[in-house]
Amino acid sequence: MSLQGQNIVIVGGSSGIGFETARLALQQGANVTIAGRSEEKLEKAKFHLIGNVWTVVADVTDETSVNQIFERLDQIDHVFIPAGGLSMGKILDTDPDEFRQGLEERIFGALYVVRAAVPKMPKHGSITLISGVRADRPIPGTTMTTVGVAAAEALTRSLALELAPIRVNAVAPGWTDTPLVSNVLGDNYDAVIRSVSEKIPVKRIGKSEEVAEAVIMLMNNGFINGEVLHIDGGERHVSAA
Ligand SMILES: NC(=O)c1ccc[n+]([C@@H]2O[C@H](COP(=O)([O-])OP(=O)(O)OC[C@H]3O[C@@H](n4cnc5c(N)ncnc54)[C@H](OP(=O)(O)O)[C@@H]3O)[C@@H](O)[C@H]2O)c1
Repeated sequence: MSLQGQNIVIVGGSSGIGFETARLALQQGANVTIAGRSEEKLEKAKFHLIGNVWTVVADVTDETSVNQIFERLDQIDHVFIPAGGLSMGKILDTDPDEFRQGLEERIFGALYVVRAAVPKMPKHGSITLISGVRADRPIPGTTMTTVGVAAAEALTRSLALELAPIRVNAVAPGWTDTPLVSNVLGDNYDAVIRSVSEKIPVKRIGKSEEVAEAVIMLMNNGFINGEVLHIDGGERHVSAA
């Protein structure tokens, strides 16, 4: 199995899990387009990637901007959509408008990408969405993240039928060492990671490339469809007892 010569688009490919997926796809000989909001981050990512890489500045919450990602390409074989941040804050303490961005990214963003990409996808094409362990293991203060990633899982199952024979899957990472996590935790990074690692059955958090390997597998395996693949070291099964 190989992605040799295939066109892959990663919306949210300039950092973390998306960047590692770009790196692995390039190793398999794919042509990779990475998109994100920051031109600086995209250029930095391109500098560190080896192979056929294109960058497009785009915000997944803006349909016109999403359409521009796909304009240059006649055929798109596989799409991965890791774009998104964390929606933090307790419902009673947070202005509801602050939660809009997360839902725009995870629900409408995914729909904009699907609408732009699918008309150019061959029968063997695939789309991979991003979920997360919070879909099954909510923690107080991240309710709207839970809602967003659970919606991604619902979209996965529904789109797998609606877009057939194009396959639609999702990866659901647990704690993964990426710039998103280090930015959110700041100075508390070491203490928090030590504490959560104790609770995860494998006793550590994940690496971006471990999630990226799963995404590449989902692109390559033509019979996995409508699936949510958990890459969380077993955190989903940890009981409070
Ligand atoms: N790391 C974890 O522990 C973890 C666990 C579960 C799920 N996830 C999910 O996995 C995904 C990737 O996370 P990560 O940890 O790899 O984060 P990351 O390092 O911050 O990477 C996020 C990527 O998405 C892009 N992006 C963010 N918002 C965007 C938007 N509105 N439009 C277009 N691009 C956007 C970012 O570039 P710009 O900022 O320049 O736009 C960047 O390229 C996220 O959806 C995250 O919620 C992460």
